[in-house]
Amino acid sequence: MPYRPMPFALETERLTLQLWEESDAAGYRQLVGERGDEMPTLEGALDEIRGARESAPGRGIHLMTLRRRGDHEFLGYCGLIIGRASIDEPEIAYELLRSAHGRGYATEAGAAIVEAARVTGRTRLWSTVATWNTPSFRVLEKLGFRRDRTTPGENGDVVWNVLDL
Ligand SMILES: CC(C)(COP(=O)(O)OP(=O)(O)OC[C@H]1O[C@@H](n2cnc3c(N)ncnc32)[C@H](O)[C@@H]1OP(=O)(O)O)[C@@H](O)C(=O)NCCC(=O)NCCS
Repeated sequence: MPYRPMPFALETERLTLQLWEESDAAGYRQLVGERGDEMPTLEGALDEIRGARESAPGRGIHLMTLRRRGDHEFLGYCGLIIGRASIDEPEIAYELLRSAHGRGYATEAGAAIVEAARVTGRTRLWSTVATWNTPSFRVLEKLGFRRDRTTPGENGDVVWNVLDL
C-alpha cells in the first residue's frame, strides 16, 4: 500500500481516540439504537468489534472510539472508512451518543482524523451526508470541507463534501 497506516491511538485537547475494545459493545449497541435501527445483540456487537480490530491493520484506515481523556466511558466514534468513496480518497465518518452531542467533540475528533489522514499521505477526503443532516454539514464546514455534488441515495439525496488535504 502506498500510504502510511493511520495510528491506533490519538489524543486531542479533551479526547482520546483509540481502537475499539470489547467493553465498547454496550455503548455501540446504544448508539445503533439511538439511530433508530434495530439494536444488535451483544454477541453481534462483539463480533463487529472483533472484526473491526482484526481488519484495521491490513486496511490502514479505521474508525476510532471517542472518550474524554482520563475517562473510559464510550462517547461514539470517528475515523476513516471506504464508504461510498475509495481507499485512496476515503470518507470521514463520525457518530456520537446523544448525551455527548453539542460539545464540539465531533469537530475536535474530526480535526485529529483529518490530520492523521494527511500524515498517511492521502491528498483528499470525502464525506457523504443526507441532505437533512444540518449538524453533520456544520461539522464538515468547520473542518474545511466544501460541498461538491448531490447524488441520489437509497434513502434520499446524498451530498458529497470534499476536503483537499
Ligand atoms: C453529527 C454529529 C456527530 C455532531 O456531533 P457534535 O459533537 O454535536 O458536533 P459539534 O458540536 O462538533 O458541532 C455541531 C455543530 O452543528 C450545530 N448544530 C447542531 N444542531 C443544529 C441544528 N439543528 N441546526 C443548525 N446547526 C446545528 C452546532 O451548533 C455546532 O455548530 P457550532 O459549533 O457552529 O455551534 C452528531 O449530531 C451525531 O452523532 N449525529 C448522529 C450521527 C450522524 O448524523 N453522523 C454523521 C453522518 S454523515
